[in-house]
Amino acid sequence: MKKNILIFFFLMLFALSVSAQNLNSPNGNLSLSFKLTEAGEPVYQLSYKNKIVIKESKMGFEIKNQPALLKGFTVLEIKNSEKNETWNPVWGEVKTIRNNYKESAVTLEQILASEVFSPSAGSSDAKKITRKITIRFRLFDDGLGFRYEFPVQDELKYFTVNDEKTGFNLTGDHKTFWIPGDYDSNEYAYTTSKLSEVDATVSKKINEIAFRTPFADNAVQTPLIMKSNDGLYLNIHEAALVNYPAMYLMVDRKNFDLTTHLAPNAVGSAAFLQTPANTPWRTVIVSDKATDILASKMILNLNEPSKIKDTSWIKPQKMIGVWWEMHVGKASWNYSDVNNIKLDETDWKSLKPNGKHGANTANVKRYVDFAAKNNIDGVLVEGWNTGWEDWFGNWKEEVFDFVTSYPDFDVKELQNYAAARKVKLIMHHETSGSASNYERRLDEAFRFMKANGYDAVKTGYVGKIVPRGEFHDGQMMVNHYTHVAQTAAKYKIMIDSHESVRPTGLQRTYPNWLASEAARGNEFNAWSVGNPPEHETILPFTRLMGGSMDYTPGIFEIKMSYYDAKKTEQVHTTLAKQLALYVTMYSPLQMAADLPENYEKKMDAFQFIRDVAVDWDDTKILEAEPGDFITMARKAKNKDEWFIGAITDENSRTADASLNFLAPNKQYVAAIYGDAKDADWQNNPMAYEIKSYLVNAQTTLKIALAKGGGAAVSIKIASVDDLKKFKNYSN
Ligand code: NOJ
Ligand code: CA
Repeated sequence: MKKNILIFFFLMLFALSVSAQNLNSPNGNLSLSFKLTEAGEPVYQLSYKNKIVIKESKMGFEIKNQPALLKGFTVLEIKNSEKNETWNPVWGEVKTIRNNYKESAVTLEQILASEVFSPSAGSSDAKKITRKITIRFRLFDDGLGFRYEFPVQDELKYFTVNDEKTGFNLTGDHKTFWIPGDYDSNEYAYTTSKLSEVDATVSKKINEIAFRTPFADNAVQTPLIMKSNDGLYLNIHEAALVNYPAMYLMVDRKNFDLTTHLAPNAVGSAAFLQTPANTPWRTVIVSDKATDILASKMILNLNEPSKIKDTSWIKPQKMIGVWWEMHVGKASWNYSDVNNIKLDETDWKSLKPNGKHGANTANVKRYVDFAAKNNIDGVLVEGWNTGWEDWFGNWKEEVFDFVTSYPDFDVKELQNYAAARKVKLIMHHETSGSASNYERRLDEAFRFMKANGYDAVKTGYVGKIVPRGEFHDGQMMVNHYTHVAQTAAKYKIMIDSHESVRPTGLQRTYPNWLASEAARGNEFNAWSVGNPPEHETILPFTRLMGGSMDYTPGIFEIKMSYYDAKKTEQVHTTLAKQLALYVTMYSPLQMAADLPENYEKKMDAFQFIRDVAVDWDDTKILEAEPGDFITMARKAKNKDEWFIGAITDENSRTADASLNFLAPNKQYVAAIYGDAKDADWQNNPMAYEIKSYLVNAQTTLKIALAKGGGAAVSIKIASVDDLKKFKNYSN
């Protein structure tokens, strides 16, 4: 009897110890606990510096035509491990990234049925029908990542996820910067509110975006940045979104409990999976310093290393483009003004040109000349190919073939012209949302590019997706974007994708995928209410957490009335802030978005764009507050040169930049491109001043930023001449 009690006691202890799991991050700042509730529901909890940041939160799935994977679990096995290594990205904000975490992989078993059978007379063995999942947690010093893995098994050979039910049960009514959970778009201005005030449907009206699809119940997009009343910053997103739909967060306004919701597919479920399978990583980045959030590399660490072996052809770069002139209405993408054209039956030469077509040979040459003179690597040309007469709003399957140029765009002549000037033309593939058409024509389109000297393409998915019923963020399209990046890599082609799903760090795995748009870019300032002055202080905390953005900075001609007196639209920043964005808005592909003729009027300011690097050894986030301001410094790759960007929202402020990152005992010269004294985004946005000083590691720059303003600084080793010419900086 005594023995039995003892055995029972030990069994209980064992059951307890396997069903509860605690994990501390390498420096101990973060701690995770995992357990099963009495009903066998998996729940996790996360603390930062001994304070709970995510209360017990649920985990699991609703599965089509099967019981949910939410409860009735027991723990089968727990495997703990850890990693501490460094790796070097092909391009990035820093040269070396440390990947240091503690891991716990918890395998759970769910018993669906117990069926008695008798293989041989007298036996009463029970055959269990079970399903297994593994939840893999990785706890870093800057946050938590976890994902679900589905091993191969009889009961889950293939299955359909109706929705995911991962919870993020927050501790209070945090301040939140959010955009609505639109399955088709991230192109919204942010609303700042308490969690209890999040209302995605109201945001839809404010943003006046006409063709978007219905929002899920009060769902918001990730990356979501929040700040608690006691000053903790939290960022929730996902890493390595592959073969799965994008995740949104449904906000329970009363309990501050966020629940995952997945972009649906055309048949109303979310994901179709075949085992072995896994979800993307769910990520929570936490710190009491806003600057730490921006410095986190956790999302990259959770992605797979590069699948491209030879990466020597992948080049961070700057570009200009036959582009802004269409957005400001000076030129058109389309060649003629007819419409409803038959792709294969039209004789383009017989169409009457509209006289405004931007992508004509002479105009493109003008851009190539400017690029050649000004240290710009590439020239993007939009509207070069036939189909633009029909591209918008008609949900057509076949609009573009990606290989037929308009009669006034001479492919061969421009190839030779650009090559002779060592400039690369950048291809444009607008798909008008017809992914099926693009997939069919992809190889031919890439072969055409290679034959004509192009090694980078900007893709675009404006409008509703074909096949009908699919969404930009659904599993099918997620697979499409990755397929395009993979296929492009085979041809040694780099990608800049617009209207694609927001990034999740996949640029580590496919470093030829240089940038995406997937947010409200600068272009909105040309033709809509635009982006409020705070917009660029929020994006690095939200959209850019997943990867680089093709924001298209560098607009010098701020007010659209310049092009047409009737226009009231304008860029909601000063000119100097446009320069600062080259530093604060990270991308290895940066556009100098304005027209060459506008730059030619202000070559002193353009000098910053000429000089600024696009690939970095190091990044220092000097000060930051989402919605208010950001100051950061970056060291150019393999050069003793630093660039600083400082931006503010609608309030003026003084940016503070200690230069203690400079090499000791060296004299540098800092060129400060700042707002003029009387500058302000609304009334005097184009007033800037450029001043140079001698600086060193002891210097602290204090730079006045106008309302909606900013400053860009380039710092180089001082030459003998500089030492004579410039004064020491003092503030
Ligand atoms: C939207 C893109 O964001 C923009 O850059 C492009 O010019 C148009 N689509 C046309 O493709
Ligand atoms: Ca603000």
